[in-house]
Amino acid sequence: MKRFEGKNILITGGTSGIGLATAKRVVDEGGTVLVTGRDQARLTEAGNLDGVSAVASDAADPAANEALRAAVDDIFGGRLDGVFLNAGLGAFAPVEAIESDEFDRQFSTNVRGPFLQLRALESALGEGSSVLLNTSIVNDVGMPSSAVYSATKGAVRSGMNVFANELAPRQIRVNAVSPGPIDTAFFAATGLSEEEIQGFVEQVLSQVPLGRFGAAEEVAAGAAFLLSDDASFVTGTELVIDGGMS
Ligand SMILES: NC(=O)c1ccc[n+]([C@@H]2O[C@H](COP(=O)([O-])OP(=O)(O)OC[C@H]3O[C@@H](n4cnc5c(N)ncnc54)[C@H](OP(=O)(O)O)[C@@H]3O)[C@@H](O)[C@H]2O)c1
Repeated sequence: MKRFEGKNILITGGTSGIGLATAKRVVDEGGTVLVTGRDQARLTEAGNLDGVSAVASDAADPAANEALRAAVDDIFGGRLDGVFLNAGLGAFAPVEAIESDEFDRQFSTNVRGPFLQLRALESALGEGSSVLLNTSIVNDVGMPSSAVYSATKGAVRSGMNVFANELAPRQIRVNAVSPGPIDTAFFAATGLSEEEIQGFVEQVLSQVPLGRFGAAEEVAAGAAFLLSDDASFVTGTELVIDGGMS
């Protein structure tokens, strides 16, 4: 029996990187997936994969959550076995360059997004289902220039702990993956130049005992575990996947 046979899994930000790798993994293991994102070309590409439906939904827009819930009702008959609230972004600036708009952009996407999406979706989650959030090891390591992004991920970790206790009486588990440096489109979306990204990569590599960036598939393996019944007694946990960096 495949782990996700007969299971409906929603993955926000499932058109790229960690979310897309998790969608492919869930489908490979028998599940049906609904992914979200904003970019239409990537949504179309993901939606063309076997077992994957795609719907545009901006995590930063609370007004989009009603339509997201309607898509879950239409595509999954209103029953979710797992939700990976993964959509997120970052940008980096030292304290003297923190901007109000950028602060709001990151918090509205990375924190308000998953919190209000969970509010919109929780009634579709039944006994034995799993909620997964995506934090980051930076929520605890004090990486220079990452105060805003790190704080968003600290907030997600705090929310995860609370949601785990709130939903436990309904036998719904809530966990997080906490990735270290993973080779995805995330860094290109930060607004850093190629040269700046290269400098960042070299600096980070020296701090990773395994000596490399992780692959999205390596986070997807952990995400699939936490979403699956293999983790049936795991809740309120952050699974660090970072090559030993933290
Ligand atoms: N890569 C890393 O090193 C790393 C480390 C720790 C944690 N993380 C976390 O992992 C998660 C996934 O990132 P990734 O590395 O896989 O990066 P990625 O390849 O850039 O994927 C990000 C995904 O999120 C979607 N997204 C971004 N903003 C969105 C919004 N407002 N509404 C809906 N979808 C949105 C993107 O699609 P659109 O752009 O089309 O919307 C894309 O599908 C993020 O939460 C990130 O913070 C990444």
